[in-house]
Amino acid sequence: MRIQSTAEIPYEAYVSQAIYDREMEALFQGPVWHFLGFESALLGDQNYLTTEIAGLPIVVVNDHGVIRAFVNRCVHRGSLLCIAKTGQISEFSCVYHGWTYDLEGRLTGVAFERGIQGQGGMPPDFNKSDHQLRSLKVENYCGILFGSFDHEISDFETYAGPDIAAGIRRVLPYPPILLGRTSQLIHSNWKIYVENNHDSYHASILHSFFTTFKLNRLTQSGGIVINDAGGSHISFSKRKQEVDDTTYNAEQLRSNKEDFGLKDPRALRFIDEFNDQISLQILTLFPLTVFHQISNSLCVRQVIPRGVDKVEVVWWYYGFENDSAEIRDARLMQINLVGPAGYVSMEDGAVGEFVQRNSSYAEGAAGMIKMGGYDHVSSPSRVTEAAIRGFWKQYRDHLGEDIA
Ligand code: FES
Ligand SMILES: [Fe+2]
Repeated sequence: MRIQSTAEIPYEAYVSQAIYDREMEALFQGPVWHFLGFESALLGDQNYLTTEIAGLPIVVVNDHGVIRAFVNRCVHRGSLLCIAKTGQISEFSCVYHGWTYDLEGRLTGVAFERGIQGQGGMPPDFNKSDHQLRSLKVENYCGILFGSFDHEISDFETYAGPDIAAGIRRVLPYPPILLGRTSQLIHSNWKIYVENNHDSYHASILHSFFTTFKLNRLTQSGGIVINDAGGSHISFSKRKQEVDDTTYNAEQLRSNKEDFGLKDPRALRFIDEFNDQISLQILTLFPLTVFHQISNSLCVRQVIPRGVDKVEVVWWYYGFENDSAEIRDARLMQINLVGPAGYVSMEDGAVGEFVQRNSSYAEGAAGMIKMGGYDHVSSPSRVTEAAIRGFWKQYRDHLGEDIA
């Protein structure tokens, strides 16, 4: 299959096992940065957390102040080494046959290496120092841990570009603390979900909650910012003053068409915590990470491909240690907007599955992404699919035009 331009995307891209296999090798294990978790989970020495990158189990550990990440796979027969979500260890120890590793990933112990009474054991040419866990490069950016399989990759800020890096710093003025997590399995290819996050055009049309309650309309001031590589972007908008006010008046929240209002308006609050009036910022970091600010809900969405037609989204809702009671309450209340059953986000999962159902046996058909032209540059308009084109531009840079 060939992706010749970034204006048309063959549906085959969402159903081909061959393409998925290439993505697993060349893209996800190539020169890209992935979200691993929050530094705040690893503050104690020898604390670890387990996570995944595109279904590959990963363990991240604090080794006397140095954060290290490894594929969570024993070199012997491939068992998981760490099983719990978090914990504390002085060495890795495999449950299957008891092999051990130090926190730098070096194989230190092989059970019955010399056999018993001269019988059995490893052959003389076996040398523990030839074996270590597969390591990732790690960077801590604003209290978020990122990892890459490519040890030659540029530093995180260079990879993201200055505008995207500034957008991340904007929603992370302090190191984040985890408020809670939800997870959602969507029956669509991972790219359909990621494209949806690059799609500033749909938000105020698909999500009637947004429009009805004036959380996000295309008439509000905002724009999109796309990095030079193309695949990372920010879509943002500023809330109109009438719904900014915490002294909410039900009259002011009626939609233009109908007599809608919420009995409990707390989900619509917006406290301008970053002092710039921006009440919505969707930020994608190519290829599998999304940061959102929706009013005062702050979240990192970890996208985990689970086969060609399934994707899991793990929503890491966060706040800060010094949150006031009022802002913490707003963050928790606004979790109702997002996640698997969110007033806003549930439709994204549904439309992704609609597209997936139409992608099999599509007989060479392709979807079009021409809204706003053919380029993938920043713009003050959100009536554009430029950021989706940017995603495909960077995707092709990693995988080539002939992707299967
Ligand atoms: S698989 Fe880990 S010790 Fe055998
Ligand atoms: Fe959406």
